[in-house]
Amino acid sequence: MLTNLIIWLVVLILAVGAGWLTWRAVRAQRMWVKIAGGLGAGLLTIVLAALTFFGGKGIAVTYFPSVPAPPALTVAGTPEQIARGDYLVNLSCIGCHSSVGADGNPTEAHPLNGGWNISQAEGFGFVGDMVADNLTPGGKLAGYTDGELFRVLRHRVDKEGDLLAFMSLLPTAQLSDDDVQSIIAYLRTLPPVEQTAVTGDKLSFVGAIMFGAGMFGASEKGAESVVAPAQGVSAEYGKYVATYGECRGCHGSDAAGAPASAMGPAVPNPRPLVGTLNLDQFKEMMRTGVMPDGVAFPDTMPWQIASRLTEDDLAALYAYLTTEP
Ligand code: HEC
Ligand code: HEC
Repeated sequence: MLTNLIIWLVVLILAVGAGWLTWRAVRAQRMWVKIAGGLGAGLLTIVLAALTFFGGKGIAVTYFPSVPAPPALTVAGTPEQIARGDYLVNLSCIGCHSSVGADGNPTEAHPLNGGWNISQAEGFGFVGDMVADNLTPGGKLAGYTDGELFRVLRHRVDKEGDLLAFMSLLPTAQLSDDDVQSIIAYLRTLPPVEQTAVTGDKLSFVGAIMFGAGMFGASEKGAESVVAPAQGVSAEYGKYVATYGECRGCHGSDAAGAPASAMGPAVPNPRPLVGTLNLDQFKEMMRTGVMPDGVAFPDTMPWQIASRLTEDDLAALYAYLTTEP
């Protein structure tokens, strides 16, 4: 944060300096100085002013987000909560938070001690490091209260209240209070494993400007309390499955495709294809990773994780994907 604040101050001073030069040039006696100097310095002023504005905005949203205090909360940790948390974490979190294999990618297996630098791996390292944290009690979460951990998932800020840049782009604000509690209950039961790599995010000034300019999309505000739709085979509950099943994280908030962004290429709309399938064909595709035309999903589509959805959740997902968003 300090580095970015200093860079921001320097850019601000340069912007003021360029503004002063513009003013001087415009008031100059000689016509050519007026025109060439005024245009050149004027343009520079505009560019520097824009960098100051968006950089400042990015610094404000990342280091000074307005979020409530963590709730006073003690998670009971019942067997039901732990089982539900097991299901959710091994669908929603393991894809990024598992330890890193020899190929530099997450192993998608336990332990969940993190270490994956997602921004470097996915080619947007210029925004700064974004390294998935250790979710076992061997890492920073051991020092978090249940309320602080609840606030991480609902409001996407860390213990100090700084924005979690990458997490803020995921739809975890829509997880119900009950499900967030279940996730916490389960994470507390994991055996503690250490992670020696530096985790968490460290935005570069370019990253702060891009956040300020909204180039990653806006982070969703979390409500104080969230209740899930009634569990069952319905389109409404299917939308909720698409939230913790992560489909909406990649395929857009309506699971109707997402355009290319600074974070990667466009993701297609799954609905036209799913619309041509019956429920059994859809389940078969999601369990085997092979589309009905015999072509396997590419590695960019994490069907191995989605294949762990229960029969009812897959049926609800099918209902959602075959209903107009
Ligand atoms: C697409 C990748 C991705 C997924 C999925 C994901 N995370 Fe994260 N998570 C990250 C990254 C990257 C960070 C590092 C901080 C940042 O940039 O947001 C992080 C940080 C965290 C932190 C540390 C918070 C802190 O205070 O520093 C917690 C806790 C966490 N994630 C929990 C979860 C849980 C629980 C889930 C599943 C519901 C989950 N995450 C799903 C990528 C992910
Ligand atoms: C990590 C990002 C990611 C997640 C999570 C994800 N997908 Fe995908 N999905 C993709 C990408 C990328 C493609 C396109 C792959 C290609 O053909 O290049 C894709 C392709 C598909 C397709 C095939 C579309 C077509 O017409 O070829 C379907 C269907 C699909 N996804 C459904 C789902 C469902 C359902 C979920 C949630 C259970 C899900 N996806 C979760 C990234 C993701």
